[in-house]
Amino acid sequence: MCGIIGYIGSRNAIPVVLDGLKRLEYRGYDSAGVAFFAERGIEVRRCSGKIQELASLLESENPFSHTTIGHTRWATHGRPSEENAHPHRSNGIVLVHNGIIENYLSLKKMLLGKGYTFTSETDTEVLCHLIENYARRYPLEDAVREALKEVKGSYAIAVIKEEDPGKIVGVRKDSPLVVGVGNGEFFIASDIPAFLNYSRDVIFLNDGEMAVLTNQGVSVFGSDGSPLKKEIQTVSWSPSMAEKGGFKHFMLKEIYEQPRAIADTLRGRLNAERGDVYMEEFGLNEDMINRFQKIFIVACGTSFHAALIGKYMIERVARIPVEVDIASEFRYRRPLIGPGDLMIIITQSGETADTLAAQREAKKLGAFVLSICNVVGSTSSREADAVFYTHSGPEIGVASTKAFTTQIIALCLFTIGVGKIRGTLSEDASRDFVEELLTIPGKVEETLGLDEMIRIIAKDYCKASDFLYLGRGLCYPVALEGALKLKEISYIHAEGYPAGEMKHGPIALIDEELPVVVFAPHDILHEKISSNIQEVKSRGGKIITITDRIDDQVCTFSDRCISVPPSNQYLTALLMAVPAQLLAYHIGVFRGCDVDQPRNLAKSVTVE
Ligand code: AGP
Repeated sequence: MCGIIGYIGSRNAIPVVLDGLKRLEYRGYDSAGVAFFAERGIEVRRCSGKIQELASLLESENPFSHTTIGHTRWATHGRPSEENAHPHRSNGIVLVHNGIIENYLSLKKMLLGKGYTFTSETDTEVLCHLIENYARRYPLEDAVREALKEVKGSYAIAVIKEEDPGKIVGVRKDSPLVVGVGNGEFFIASDIPAFLNYSRDVIFLNDGEMAVLTNQGVSVFGSDGSPLKKEIQTVSWSPSMAEKGGFKHFMLKEIYEQPRAIADTLRGRLNAERGDVYMEEFGLNEDMINRFQKIFIVACGTSFHAALIGKYMIERVARIPVEVDIASEFRYRRPLIGPGDLMIIITQSGETADTLAAQREAKKLGAFVLSICNVVGSTSSREADAVFYTHSGPEIGVASTKAFTTQIIALCLFTIGVGKIRGTLSEDASRDFVEELLTIPGKVEETLGLDEMIRIIAKDYCKASDFLYLGRGLCYPVALEGALKLKEISYIHAEGYPAGEMKHGPIALIDEELPVVVFAPHDILHEKISSNIQEVKSRGGKIITITDRIDDQVCTFSDRCISVPPSNQYLTALLMAVPAQLLAYHIGVFRGCDVDQPRNLAKSVTVE
């Protein structure tokens, strides 16, 4: 996610803003910039790369300004570059933005018709010109308000106007924005760490609210322009805690970010009324989709588990054969892939060496390569024929959580779009699926409400030396993912297994010491998974059942029972992954492990 910081006060604002940007570096970024009032009006300085490069650029000038806004960019539209870096400018209007403007293309077309020219590929520049267009007739606050009425999407913005020095206007919708209140100095930022060194007094803005910062103070207005009386709250966080949004670890913060990450990944990709998915978001057209003979999906680790879920979904709904491979195995098995086939690469980082090698092999053999990736400008995204970006924001915890659930969302969108085009998914069925997709951020939020209950379960089982995870159908990959989460952050040996395989070996493991996590949704395999639970029970195993029904019969045979909200068979797999993430996280914490940076692991495995 991008980082925003603005300052007004008696200090030289530029070092304050640079310091604030440094404190937002944890959010991940690929370019940075500042805009400040100088003698000749507003000056803008931007560069791709790290904040240090921006600081060096400014050092030579050594400018002084009482009003400055700054930005670190996490690219969503347009590759990382100086032209795409913020702040963006339109005549006397300069702004920084965090979020996604869904209807930026239609707005851009309208603005081009008004004679505006564009120098970047970003959605933000569109917003800048739109505000400038209104600022010709209205004061800055009203111009911002009028422009945002035309905008669909998420935004946190800070805007300044050359003819209106000493003022910063900030507005938020679905992206965070907070105001820092110092002693005669005022801050506006994406997150508290940006100004925590200067003030702990914070005004939290709600969606639609506007903050106007001047040397005299801060005024807050509702979306209709009415003045609001906002409480100033004092935060007691340490800077390190503030970077984690008050969470103890990045991993927990990212588990809790999943509702927003899923909402952002869905944003601008579908039409709810028609139940349509915009397949151009995948870089695919109808002709291509109708021509694919076979689909290959290749990934590593958690992304591989998402790939397995994709296989079940695509084959069941779109009726295209899907082969899934661990990336490090793919290119050594002399795969029968070629022109007419689609290769889907799933990778959070876009830099995993094994995955890149498989991607290059598939490309060399003539397949069309689609990358489902979380990092704009990453190697996988640049080398693929098409890219679908999951907008989960930077994932800092080594254990992948929000990337996994947004990858499943991406695969759901792909499945719906392909199923509709190939005629295997009816209008009604796709509308139902899209409708259910839109409920998932709320259902994940509801599932996060189980956190304390799961923490207590984790405490009871954190001393186990082994775990077994069982699932059937779409929950088999979830069992693999749950086991991976546990082993990589708690160092407990854990295995994920298709529950139907119990009798072929793993049942020998069952005894009173072995906790068995069973994913038991009420789908067509429920009776079978219930029998598996009985098998474990009758041999004294300790059963932690994750179901989607509170009064589930299987809970009477379980030692612990966790129930997630019901959903369709595909999205239930996503919802069931969340308790597994929380269970692994809490067990890791109880065992005193470094859950954000587990031993021996790297966030991105860039070597084979
Ligand atoms: C998952 O928690 C691990 N961090 C790891 O398995 C990861 O999923 C794998 O290395 C793939 O990374 P990628 O998605 O960035 O390619």
